[in-house]
Amino acid sequence: MSSVTLSTAAQLRGVVDVPGDKSISHRAVIFNAVASGSARITNFLTGADCLSTIACIRALGVDVTQNGDEVHVYGVGLQGLREPADVLDCGNSGTTLRLLAGLLAGMPIFTVLTGDASLRSRPQRRIVEPLRSLGAQIDGRQGGDRAPLALRGASIRGGSYRLPVASAQVKSALLLAGLGGSGPLTLTGRIDSRDHTERMLTAMGVELEITPEQITLHPPTHPVLPYPLSLRVPGDPSSAAFWWVAAAIHPDAELTTPGVCLNPTRSGVLDVLRAMGAQIEITNQRSEGSEPVGDVTVRSSALRGTEIAGDLIPRLIDEIPILAVAAACAEGETLVRDAQELRAKETDRIATVAEGLSALGVKVEPTSDGMKIVGLGGPLLRGAQVQSHHDHRLAMAWAVAALVASGEMTIADPDSAAVSYPGFWETLTMVQHAT
Ligand code: S3P
Repeated sequence: MSSVTLSTAAQLRGVVDVPGDKSISHRAVIFNAVASGSARITNFLTGADCLSTIACIRALGVDVTQNGDEVHVYGVGLQGLREPADVLDCGNSGTTLRLLAGLLAGMPIFTVLTGDASLRSRPQRRIVEPLRSLGAQIDGRQGGDRAPLALRGASIRGGSYRLPVASAQVKSALLLAGLGGSGPLTLTGRIDSRDHTERMLTAMGVELEITPEQITLHPPTHPVLPYPLSLRVPGDPSSAAFWWVAAAIHPDAELTTPGVCLNPTRSGVLDVLRAMGAQIEITNQRSEGSEPVGDVTVRSSALRGTEIAGDLIPRLIDEIPILAVAAACAEGETLVRDAQELRAKETDRIATVAEGLSALGVKVEPTSDGMKIVGLGGPLLRGAQVQSHHDHRLAMAWAVAALVASGEMTIADPDSAAVSYPGFWETLTMVQHAT
């Protein structure tokens, strides 16, 4: 489909089971691939990004079966991965490419990691430089800053590295490389990104010492993750956020998302929505595997502008496009700062969010590390033609905006939503017709 046209929703109601978390789904397949036995993963995200991970792991000689959202991985240990016969295509998925680069950096095989035009335009020096400092042999375009990346078998040393950006992909790439290292690996600096890797590796028997200042990984004595990890993947808060904002900005709405991951490194969006005045209720809080989860209900709210900056940014980096829609409907200004990482996502999300909001009649000033959004004081967006630039989170953010916009909204390339949220468009229809 090249575009979709939507109109205002009279009301929003319903219970939305959002798909499994993208970050956890990727990790569940990659980590179990090098574990000591088989694992069963349920509620796996069947979005295009995680399917790219399954395809790459299979190409490395690991048996992975998939039946809907149930996946079985038959681990082969760190030394069981085979040299693939072709390049590994990571599609649109930065997590696939960066985590695999870390995992493969110390393997005695030759691999080439590539992806679609968006992924090939994203910076890779952030993983290539630290991996090289640990002994990895990696080549790539632009001196290694752009994929395709070619990795040659190398020995990985232990050591330490100070992370300059709060990126879980970089942190995880290094920890995965460290699994095959000759000594302990210590990471300092910006380790405050999502911590699913730390939680899962610990549950799989890897020795990690974690303090607020540093993480030290001790490579397992045998080249294998001691315990395979079977799990039910919790709902993705980055997908649920679309419904949370939809309910908050719509004048007649109540939406519930059960079983969503409430890991504090991911829940910044809820903190910001609360600070903006959103009516949010969290019930049934529990632990599923290594992650806290809960049921989240959001109702129609009068929102006010806020500031989104500092330590909050890594806790909500993927939610800034949809938070920008909330800010556009709020009373007063919202300032986003310290979010230069947005420029390194599937699109330059400072430029593309600002472009889309302007088309919807919102005053927005992009800056080098964020943007200032002047709220309309209510759900007063105007329908327009907007681009998603093949960026899944933009397509979904504009769809939520359409629910409260006056006049029709036409969104280009809506199919990109399937990268992280298969079934998004069907759910969008469902919540408008549930009673
Ligand atoms: C992810 C980390 C984040 C996030 C991405 C998923 C992960 O990227 O934007 O969608 O699963 O580790 P960065 O590590 O580049 O911040």
